[in-house]
Amino acid sequence: MRKKIVAGNWKMNINATETKALIDGIYQEIASYDLTNTRVIISPSYVNLSSALALTEKGIIEVAAQNMHQAKSGAFTGEVSADMLQAIGVKSVIIGHSERRAYFMESDAILAEKVNAVLANNMEAIFCFGELLEDRKSGNHFKVVAAQLSNALFHLQANDFKNIVLAYEPVWAIGTGETASPEQAQEMHEFIRKTIADRYTKDVADGISILYGGSVKPANANEIFSKEDVDGGLIGGASLKPADFAAIIKSI
Ligand code: 13P
Repeated sequence: MRKKIVAGNWKMNINATETKALIDGIYQEIASYDLTNTRVIISPSYVNLSSALALTEKGIIEVAAQNMHQAKSGAFTGEVSADMLQAIGVKSVIIGHSERRAYFMESDAILAEKVNAVLANNMEAIFCFGELLEDRKSGNHFKVVAAQLSNALFHLQANDFKNIVLAYEPVWAIGTGETASPEQAQEMHEFIRKTIADRYTKDVADGISILYGGSVKPANANEIFSKEDVDGGLIGGASLKPADFAAIIKSI
C-alpha cells in the first residue's frame, strides 16, 4: 500500500528559535494521532537542518532539505551538496520546486542531474512539478506535466522510483489562496500515474506516492486527500502553524 505523506515546505521562513518552537508545537498537536501509514515531513532551511534533526530524534517527524546542488563538490560558492546533506542525516530532498525553477533558473536538465545526485547518495527525492496558469488556460497542462516528468525522471530505472515521491504543484495555486479543485487534482494525479505506468509498469505507478501542493489548508485538505490518486500534500504557508499543519495531517 502506498504511504500517505504530509510534508511541510517551510521555504525561507523562521529562524533557529522559531524552528524549535514549531517542531515542539507540531509534536504536541499530533501526539495522539495514529500515523501508522502516514509520514510527516518538515523541511527547514539549510542552517536549521541539523538542529531539526536533533529535535526529531524521537521519530514520527522526518526532516527534508529544500534543495541541493547537483555536483559532488567543488567551486560553487554558497551551494550545498548531496554528500553534505547525507552526512548530517538528511534522508529526503525537495527537488524542482517551482520557486527554484522560476527564480534560480533550474531547468529540467539540471533537475535530472539533481535527482541523480540524490539517488546516488541513497536519499529520497521529493520531485516537484506543475503547470503555469497560462499552460492551464491554453489547455496544455497535461502536455507540460508529461514533459516535466519525462525530461527529469524518465532516464531512471524502474527500481529508482522506490526513492522518489512526486509532488504536483500547479504554479497558479502556490501561495495564491487558489487551490486546484479536488476534481482537478484527481484528474492530474490519475494522468501522472498513467504516464508512469505507460513508461514503466503499473506496479511502479501504483507504488509511487503523489502529493498535491498549492494552498492546502485545514478547510480544504479533507476533500483533496479523499481523492483516490492523491496520497498527501506538500504544504507551504499552513505548515508554519502547528495547529493548521496538524489539522491537515489529521485529514489524511
Ligand atoms: P502554499 O501551501 O503556501 O500555497 O505553498 C505550496 C508550496 O509551494 C509547497 O511546496
